[in-house]
Amino acid sequence: MGHVLVVGSSNTDLVCRAPRIPRVGETIHGSTFHVFAGGKGANQAVAAARAGARVTFVGAVGDDDFGRQRVDELRGEGISVDAVRTVGGAPSGVALITVDDAGENSIVIITGANAQIRADDARNAITASGHDVLSLTLEIPYAVVAASVAASIGRGRTVLNAAPYDPRLAELVNALDVLIVNEIEAGQHLGYDITIANAIDGAQSIVRTGPRAVVITLGKDGAVLATETGAAHFPAPIVHAIDTTGAGDAFCGVFCAWLGAGEPITAATRAGVVAGALAVQVAGAQPSLPSRQAILQAMG
Ligand code: RIB
Repeated sequence: MGHVLVVGSSNTDLVCRAPRIPRVGETIHGSTFHVFAGGKGANQAVAAARAGARVTFVGAVGDDDFGRQRVDELRGEGISVDAVRTVGGAPSGVALITVDDAGENSIVIITGANAQIRADDARNAITASGHDVLSLTLEIPYAVVAASVAASIGRGRTVLNAAPYDPRLAELVNALDVLIVNEIEAGQHLGYDITIANAIDGAQSIVRTGPRAVVITLGKDGAVLATETGAAHFPAPIVHAIDTTGAGDAFCGVFCAWLGAGEPITAATRAGVVAGALAVQVAGAQPSLPSRQAILQAMG
């Protein structure tokens, strides 16, 4: 079992279903409302834990019911939450999510206490934990991500999921073992649109700028992986999508769990693609994250 250290966000997702995402200035009727555990960092921590990794989570929540519930749930997944800071004076992070009939979403995040994650807390965990993989996203302060990347050099592998996109990503890529982006983030980084037709070329272009490997996730089309020695497309199983929220996090968390367990990066990519396809078939972010057994069964 590998050890995955996640420095990241935790949110409470307030999710409504509606036939479509409303236009600017428009009011429409939705059908259901649910509250789910979410946040890209916490989602990836849970995905890695369910995939069999030992997981440590570094984050921050407010001194409120949402924060306490989110930490209790992470603990219930067997995740170490000793380094989660409870901050007064800021609400726990929330995400306002609309999911349409095609399972696609739009998300507004209110960072709240996630903005109070401290670089020192991340550095201390990184130098003390003996992790195999450090997993990061850009949903927390950029300074914490930059400090974490620097502290992780020579200690395990560093995987950054550059979501949401930040143009300062260019300053980090050289120190990364793996950069994971979706097609939109890849396009923002490269300055041109990425589709399945040019995703391998795009991933190879990014590899030439520094990271040892780049994954571009492509939703229902799976993912491409480029390394210094080659590139390949990993198609996704065909499934009926109910809710795509958290599918990218399922990919990242499972990818890190596989990598941390010493599996080749190609196997980690394949497992991540299968996990994403399983996740879209269940509503909600953390409720949809698959078990190791479900992933292995789906991989055949
Ligand atoms: O990636 C999905 C996540 O993005 C949601 O759980 C939401 O909290 C936002 O962080």
